Amino acid sequence: MRSTLFLAPLLAAIGGTKAQHGHVEIPEVEEYVSSMLENFGHWTHYPGPSPTYWHHPSPRPTKPVPPRPTDQCDYWLADIKHQGIAAFNPAPQTYQVFRNVKDFGAKGDGVTDDTAAINNAISSGGRLSPAQGGSTTVTPAVVYFPPGVYMINASIIDYYYTQLIGNPNCLPTIRAFATFSGGLGLIDGDQYGANGLGFGATNTFWRQIRNFIIDMTLIPASSSVTGIHWPTAQATSIQNVVFQMSGNAGTQHQGIFIEEGSGGFMNDLIFNGGLNAAAWGNQQFTMRNLTFNNAVTAINQAWDWGWTYKSISINNCSVGLNMSSGGAAAQSVGSITFIDSSISNTGIGILTAHGPDSLPPSGGSLILENVVFNNVGVAVQGEYPTGNTTALAGGSFTVAGWGEGHSYTPNGPQVFQGPITPVSRPAALLQSGGKYYERSKPQYQQYSVRSFLSARSLGATGNGHTDDTAALQKAVLLAKAQDKILFIDHGDYLVSKTIYVPAGSRIVGETYSVILSYGKFFNNMNSPQPVLQLGKPGESGTVEVSDLIVSTQGQQQGAVLFEYNLNSPSSSPSGLWDVHARVGGFAGSNLQLAECPTTPNITVTADNLDQQCIAAFMTMHLTKSSSGLYLENVWLWIADHDVEDPQLRQITVYAGRGLLDQSQKGVFWMVGTSVEHHVKYEYQFANTHTVFAGQIQTETAYYQPNPAAPLPFPYVASLNDPVFPTQTITDGNLTIPAAEGWGLRIVGSNDIGIYGAGLYSFFNNYSTACSNQGAGETCQNHIFEDSDSSSITVYNLNTVGTHYQVNLDGNDIAYFGDNLNGFVDTIALFKD
Ligand SMILES: *[C@@H]1O[C@H](CO)[C@@H](O)[C@H](O)[C@H]1NC(C)=O
Ligand SMILES: *[C@@H]1O[C@H](CO)[C@@H](O)[C@H](O)[C@H]1NC(C)=O
Ligand SMILES: *[C@@H]1O[C@H](CO)[C@@H](O)[C@H](O)[C@H]1NC(C)=O
Ligand SMILES: *[C@@H]1O[C@H](CO)[C@@H](O)[C@H](O)[C@H]1NC(C)=O
Ligand SMILES: *[C@@H]1O[C@H](CO)[C@@H](O)[C@H](O)[C@H]1NC(C)=O
Ligand SMILES: *[C@@H]1O[C@H](CO)[C@@H](O)[C@H](O)[C@H]1NC(C)=O
Ligand SMILES: *[C@@H]1O[C@H](CO)[C@@H](O)[C@H](O)[C@H]1NC(C)=O
Ligand SMILES: *[C@@H]1O[C@H](CO)[C@@H](O)[C@H](O)[C@H]1NC(C)=O
Repeated sequence: MRSTLFLAPLLAAIGGTKAQHGHVEIPEVEEYVSSMLENFGHWTHYPGPSPTYWHHPSPRPTKPVPPRPTDQCDYWLADIKHQGIAAFNPAPQTYQVFRNVKDFGAKGDGVTDDTAAINNAISSGGRLSPAQGGSTTVTPAVVYFPPGVYMINASIIDYYYTQLIGNPNCLPTIRAFATFSGGLGLIDGDQYGANGLGFGATNTFWRQIRNFIIDMTLIPASSSVTGIHWPTAQATSIQNVVFQMSGNAGTQHQGIFIEEGSGGFMNDLIFNGGLNAAAWGNQQFTMRNLTFNNAVTAINQAWDWGWTYKSISINNCSVGLNMSSGGAAAQSVGSITFIDSSISNTGIGILTAHGPDSLPPSGGSLILENVVFNNVGVAVQGEYPTGNTTALAGGSFTVAGWGEGHSYTPNGPQVFQGPITPVSRPAALLQSGGKYYERSKPQYQQYSVRSFLSARSLGATGNGHTDDTAALQKAVLLAKAQDKILFIDHGDYLVSKTIYVPAGSRIVGETYSVILSYGKFFNNMNSPQPVLQLGKPGESGTVEVSDLIVSTQGQQQGAVLFEYNLNSPSSSPSGLWDVHARVGGFAGSNLQLAECPTTPNITVTADNLDQQCIAAFMTMHLTKSSSGLYLENVWLWIADHDVEDPQLRQITVYAGRGLLDQSQKGVFWMVGTSVEHHVKYEYQFANTHTVFAGQIQTETAYYQPNPAAPLPFPYVASLNDPVFPTQTITDGNLTIPAAEGWGLRIVGSNDIGIYGAGLYSFFNNYSTACSNQGAGETCQNHIFEDSDSSSITVYNLNTVGTHYQVNLDGNDIAYFGDNLNGFVDTIALFKD
């Protein structure tokens, strides 16, 4: 929008909104976010590809790429037959999942105003609009942009459950006319209405934007304009986008703006020019492979709890990362983990407000590991704006490890600022140049449509009521046998037996195709069965899966949603990208508000617990013989609320275990992963090693301790289940439940590096009274166990609602009150 100060209306709107948190409203968090945004209000005063110095081994297709046919802009997703269906939409026969903007009248000719046509492509078919708010899974859409230059004069309004996808071989440009006006963002991911944000930012799940050039350069430099407005939560991504902004003196352009939410993941972005090329605040995020050229400030960090930046390249800016928001007396940035990155030809590399006297005490926690500074004036400047101390002097050098904040190594708290011993990185996790291996989601753009098979063409229905087990299994095996990529057209594929995915398989869904288990095969707690089995025990080779959800329908007491058995080489690992678990709370799950309401007023016991709402045994199992798996943007969610309910009311669904890693060979990457609301634990590493994980994020089940863990799942020794005490804990006049699920449990393991962790316990028995520093953080006594292990490092451990942040070999250490940091409590550096 033109020369209007966007934040004034924004903040006015926020005043009227209810911040939601942990997927439900929490007044304390609402206040917290508002105060962070007031700091952000400073910004009302102001409202090209660089060489990557590291060389990544190129993505390793498992098979040779066949020569492309005719036109280099051909893209299989455009060419394939479009037959995805929304099974639980009221009109699945007519509802259109795939939409090509040109079919809706967009010209892409660089002249015509395509705003209305694009917005029509997004909104048609009775989809959930931001004006309606709420959320739903029954109106999904892929909105495809062929190559071209799409001129717009007002915002493209993004809807719920939408993937905006450009042609990756010939990136489409979305270019604003000089007269662009009337919106927050060329793409507004969550449009403001009378009641604030359309979709609650922490409930905006399952959406993507990829393969675009967002061009703001026709708009005068002096006008504020935003490329993408993106307040979102888990299972969201922006990938492969170039932001073209004015680099002229006085530029007011910004590439991405985020004010709140519970993210999330982004990768492969290039920002050229701009005042604040990125201006964002959110609970947590993982961001990888971002390049900033010629901005005034590359990243202006409004607020956060934890954030993991990896493979960031900042070139020729005045300020690289400004995390000083709020100033030394009231820092609003909780913590940042910044690794495998470079900052070049920049005045101030990182600007913080942190210093010996800054508040809150753990605010502005910062960890740098493997960061190259090249011709930087000041590498880290502290106590801005009161003292302007040099925390780390400028020049040209490489930082192996550096940080500031509170440490437990393992004794603490110690207050530190300066060099740290970096993680001793296992070679198997690295690519050439010493960075942790990384690999973006394959889009298979180099393959023609002839390299694909469609699940629906092969007889699977995806219609949500036919048993698709045999057809889907046949499709998986046929694709592998023919060396093809299996496209699972959008739909809900009911399966009553395990779907086995052999080594060599490549599978891609369409705006999250759903594999939905049902029936008695998966309903025996004494005989758990995998829904999606990636390799059999002892099998070697690799698989690739993307854009898929695995779910259960109704009671599924023995369902293991993902079982990974493959032994994949570390030099060519298997990968899951944008692959999620979703258990309960959506149409077709039979585990919604009507079936699984919360029961806080009933004391839940083994006798009266609603057995029908036991919906999964375990969500992801990395088995003993498995090795070599790269996970990126993976959210394993047991629903805490009903997504289809206009009021998003809470529900109680039981799932035993989150992500269990028992691999004897190790070698796992967990980039931007999150596990929520299981009974016994979210992440458990047992007798394993060699893991890179960051940012990890968890939430404890909201109903606990009513019932307390481990109800309703009996102890299983072979799974290294934790044992829970039964008594309550008292500390002075505080009463704290002892038996709540672990956020992170590491036992008998070594060489695990956690690069950013948010372990949250917001509720006891559906009340948030316990997640409050003033009231003693009494939702649970401890949330992170490290026992019988070595060479475990956690950077920026952020906890909520937990009395002690760490349990080390059976002893509770790190009392929350020693590490206060805004809404969370933070340990910048933990080493066992
Ligand atoms: C864009 O909208 C403005 C009014 O908001 C109008 O004056 C202008 O002519 C429009 N430009 C185009 C190219 O449609
Ligand atoms: C990083 O992003 C750029 C721009 O999208 C892309 O060309 C490059 O391949 C990415 N690098 C990796 C390692 O994914
Ligand atoms: C560095 O940034 C300045 C200001 O944006 C610009 O004038 C100059 O051309 C840039 N230098 C390079 C090498 O891009
Ligand atoms: C850093 O960010 C804060 C908060 O947005 C702002 O007040 C301050 O002016 C910025 N500093 C610089 C040097 O840009
Ligand atoms: C710190 O630096 C900022 C920006 O250069 C300046 O406005 C401020 O006055 C400085 N503070 C002190 C105490 O020198
Ligand atoms: C539990 O009881 C309280 C107080 O009587 C009431 O306000 C609340 O609605 C009840 N909750 C449920 C889920 O029944
Ligand atoms: C759960 O909370 C309700 C009030 O909302 C209370 O009556 C009940 O005793 C609590 N149960 C447990 C086990 O904490
Ligand atoms: C609990 O004890 C603390 C100090 O130990 C005291 O400040 C607080 O008032 C007490 N709370 C209650 C409800 O007694």
